Amino acid sequence: MKITKICCIGAGYVGGPTMAVIAQKCPHIQVTVVDLNQERIAAWNDQDVKNIPIYEPGLAEVVGEARGRNLFFSTDVDKAIDEAQVIFISVNTPTKTYGKGKGMAADLKYIELCARQIARVAKEDKIVVEKSTLPVRTAEAIKSILDNTGNGVQFQILSNPEFLAEGTAVSDLLDPDRILIGGDESVEGQKAINALVSVYANWVAADKILTTNVWSSELSKLTANAFLAQRISSINAMSELCEKTGADVNQVAKAIGMDSRIGSKFLKASVGFGGSCFQKDILNLVYIAKSYGLNEVADYWEQVIIMNDYQKRRFSNKIVQTLYNTVSGKKITFLGWAFKKDTNDTRESAAIYVADDLMSEQAQIVVFDPKVSEKKILADLDYLETRTLDQNKALIAAVEDPYEGCKGAHAIAVLTEWDEFKEYDWQRIYDGMQKPAFIFDGRNILNGQELKNIGFIYQAIGS
Ligand code: NAD
Ligand code: UGA
Repeated sequence: MKITKICCIGAGYVGGPTMAVIAQKCPHIQVTVVDLNQERIAAWNDQDVKNIPIYEPGLAEVVGEARGRNLFFSTDVDKAIDEAQVIFISVNTPTKTYGKGKGMAADLKYIELCARQIARVAKEDKIVVEKSTLPVRTAEAIKSILDNTGNGVQFQILSNPEFLAEGTAVSDLLDPDRILIGGDESVEGQKAINALVSVYANWVAADKILTTNVWSSELSKLTANAFLAQRISSINAMSELCEKTGADVNQVAKAIGMDSRIGSKFLKASVGFGGSCFQKDILNLVYIAKSYGLNEVADYWEQVIIMNDYQKRRFSNKIVQTLYNTVSGKKITFLGWAFKKDTNDTRESAAIYVADDLMSEQAQIVVFDPKVSEKKILADLDYLETRTLDQNKALIAAVEDPYEGCKGAHAIAVLTEWDEFKEYDWQRIYDGMQKPAFIFDGRNILNGQELKNIGFIYQAIGS
């Protein structure tokens, strides 16, 4: 089958960038990204491409090139489904907040709504691609809905999980480590796989396109995220031992990372991992393992989350203890709120939990993040339901200028590893702060020796 029209349901952090790159690399394919969220679609269509709803280095340029040529953003979901041969489902799959599996399982209601809508609208055979991260064997449920509520047309379900990381989405998409496509082992299934392979083959080398059965593909995505997060929890566990023993976690990470079997990436100790996916996907994995009665498997992976929660709490406790066991009424300036640098995404950011702890101790928090607004910060805290909106407003505010934000502060806490923090005039910041002036570097990005020479009391993670 020759693919000429693709539709993607979900114009979020995955759907938007992924489809923009497909459109850029495949000018012969018309790509339409649809979403129920009108505001989000309007932002994707904003005349000034700088106002697209997601900040990713290089993304505005890709969208600018393809938009209006063969890349379209729309709220007309039915029309896009009807016209496309291939439909990607890239909607959110959050942790369930109610009922069976609450707090653990993935909530698949948005996936099911998409499946039912595709079934209702499709009048010709379609390939349906799972782009969202899904529990293993979800394709079975999607197939059952499509086959039982459809118009008698044939559907092939493929699993094509996305491995991009935020902040590097465009380069990850342009030069992926691999593309994974899982499909049915039947002749029809193999045809569908080949059709999708031919799309990626426009820019990805053949030896990087891996095809498997559907279940392996679905489970590989959860496994990859679990392994990545596990490395961070492992190094973070060692960071506390380093602090007790005089070892330095950066040196330990370098020493073990030079072992080619371990590898050097993803060994940066931190205040804890954030982001919309690691926690959600591991909880989902734990839930799946438990549902098969595999309690040891479940406990093993759950420990990654337990360690991460501990690391966030440990950071806020350390701030309180170091500031003479009280932060009540003290000004603490956060540098960074996003869950990592080069993104405006704050979902599950460690900063939210550290702020919440310190606010419960009545600290006055001031936040500077180059890409995150006060509105977003307040919404993130509101979601925790620890305090009312007004109570939060009394304890936290955002500033546009980092120097202004640090003035009069008792302490600075680095929560996100934005490059610009390294370039600040730290003498100027020191001069404006209360003394002794403390810095808690939750990302180990600042030059500790230089800061100590200025007069700061500097504390990093794991040394
Ligand atoms: P997101 O919340 O940014 O975007 C999802 C979009 O889907 C929203 O805009 C929502 O309005 C829309 N939507 C939901 N139901 C819809 C429906 N029935 N019809 C039309 N639109 C609908 O989520 P995201 O970060 O893009 O993640 C999407 C999926 O991709 C998740 O399963 C996630 O685990 C996975 N994933 C995310 C990343 C990442 O970096 N964020 C990376 C790899 C995989
Ligand atoms: C992660 C994976 O890296 C992607 O492959 C995957 O597609 C994605 O999840 C997903 O499924 O959503 P992402 O969460 O965007 O991507 O970003 P990461 O670079 O993985 O960082 C996650 C968190 O871990 C961040 O808070 C980051 O600061 C932290 N981290 C990362 C560390 O604390 N130390 C490290 O060494 C690396």
